[in-house]
Parts: sequence; C-alpha cells; structure tokens
Amino acid sequence: MQLLDGKALSAKIETAVATEVKDLKNSTGLVPGLAVILVGQDPASAAYVNMKKKACDRVGFYSVTHEMPSDISQSAIENTITMMNNNPNIDGILIQLPLPAQIDTTKILELVEPSKDVDGFHPYNVGRLTTGLDGFVPCTPLGVMELLNEYNIDPKGKNCVVVGASNIVGKPMAALLLNANATVEVCHIFTDDLKRHTLCADMIFVGAGVINLIKEDMVKDGAIIIDIGINRAQNGKLVGDADFENVAKKCSFITPVPGGVGPMTIAMLLSNTLKAAKANAKIKEGK
Ligand code: GUN
Repeated sequence: MQLLDGKALSAKIETAVATEVKDLKNSTGLVPGLAVILVGQDPASAAYVNMKKKACDRVGFYSVTHEMPSDISQSAIENTITMMNNNPNIDGILIQLPLPAQIDTTKILELVEPSKDVDGFHPYNVGRLTTGLDGFVPCTPLGVMELLNEYNIDPKGKNCVVVGASNIVGKPMAALLLNANATVEVCHIFTDDLKRHTLCADMIFVGAGVINLIKEDMVKDGAIIIDIGINRAQNGKLVGDADFENVAKKCSFITPVPGGVGPMTIAMLLSNTLKAAKANAKIKEGK
C-alpha cells in the first residue's frame, strides 16, 4: 500500500505558482487577485476561508475577504459580486458555501462572471467540463486528478465508483473521470446496497461526509481509494469517509486524511486563480 501524499504535491504546486506570480509581476506589473465572500459564522467555513487567504499570501496574490452577517440580503451579496465582476484587480471570485437558507445560491453562483469563476460552479463552466472543454474545474476533484497524475495512475478503462453526488465534488469528479475515459458509476444516499457497487471498483472516490462509510469488506484487493471526506471524529481528530486502518491494508494506493485531497483543494484554487489572472492579463494587453 502506498499513500498518495497531497501535502507534498500541494507544496510543489504552491512553489510553482509563486514562481509564476513573480514572473507575471515582472513582465506585466499585474498581481493575481482573489475575492472571497464569507457569509455567517460557521466555524468550518471560516477556517477554510482563512486557509485560502493564507495560501494566497504565501504565493503573492492580492486577496480580499468580504465577511457578511448571516442575515444579509440577497441583493447585498449580489451587489458585492457585481462590484467584484467589474473590478480589474480581481481575477477570481469565490463564494464560500453553504450560504444561509434565505439566500438563492443558484442565482448567486450564476452572477459570478464565468472568467472569474475559479471554483468552477457557474453553469457555464459546469457545461464546459461536461462537454470536455477547457474552463474552470471545481478545485477538489481537479486536485484529485492532479494527485492521480503525480503517481502515474491512469483512470482510463478503470471501473471508477464515485460515492457522493454533490455539485462541488461528486458530479464534477464523475465528469473528469469520464473525460479521462474511465467507466464511471455514481452512488449516493439513495443507492441500494453500496457494497455491491464498491466491490467491483478499481478505484473508489468517496466524498459523502460519513465516517467509516467505506469498510474493509466493501473494497476489493488492490483497489485505489481516494478519500475526499473530512469529518471530525468524537475524539476531535480529522478523519475521512473510509475506515482507513482496516481499508488501507487491502489497497494499492490510498489518500490519508488529513494530508491527502484536502491540501490539493487549496493548491488548485491557487492554480485556477493564476489561470484566470493570466487570461485577464492577455485581455488587458489587448492580445
Ligand atoms: N464549501 C465546501 N467546499 C467548498 C469549495 O470547494 N468551495 C466553496 N466555495 N465552498 C465550499
């Protein structure tokens, strides 16, 4: 069994992004800029946004966080997005999800200018991903693909089972795997007999947010497990969705939690923001 080290790969990507940021600054004077909207007091969301901000600082991005109270109105968020859409110093816009119940999240995500949609949540970018065209791809599944690539794991022709069908993880993960010529099955909370599906999998991608969802007897020998879950166990430790200790024995490769997919998500946010900044720099230069 080999661990897929997302911590090491994300550090390597960060270094490469930081170098490119310097080059971009030297050649054009432009600094990539990321704007984040954080609504409410959810500690997990605040912690994620804080990690994203620190990563931006490390690679030399300009970043700004708009913190808003949980009773904020739809129009106030929309006005802020419009402002950031029109701000030439902002290349990427990220709305930390989930938003409070009174907010129409779809409308908010659709308002983000697709060329600044570094989370890849706008239907325009979702459509481009589904069609196999270049665009912005959600950071977590994109990070998984980078991790596989780093270890020369090719999903082509493999039986890939994605567990969890969220718009943020499961659906884009399935699209990326399909684009990579894998055979893809998507399981979710209404799937009958999950084990029947996972037992046939060469690769399992689990992002359901359920501790110990994937157990030893649900995995075939030599399988590859990509654990996208991040849960807080009763003892306070961070754990994934797979019963790591028992499952790992049977795997050829597995991602640890923490230190697997998590750090890759932030690395891909940096990479997407740099991509947006480079595209915007070309537009500003009139190329
Ligand atoms: N909430 C949970 N995961 C994510 C993510 O990747 N991006 C954003 N914007 N919100 C999230």
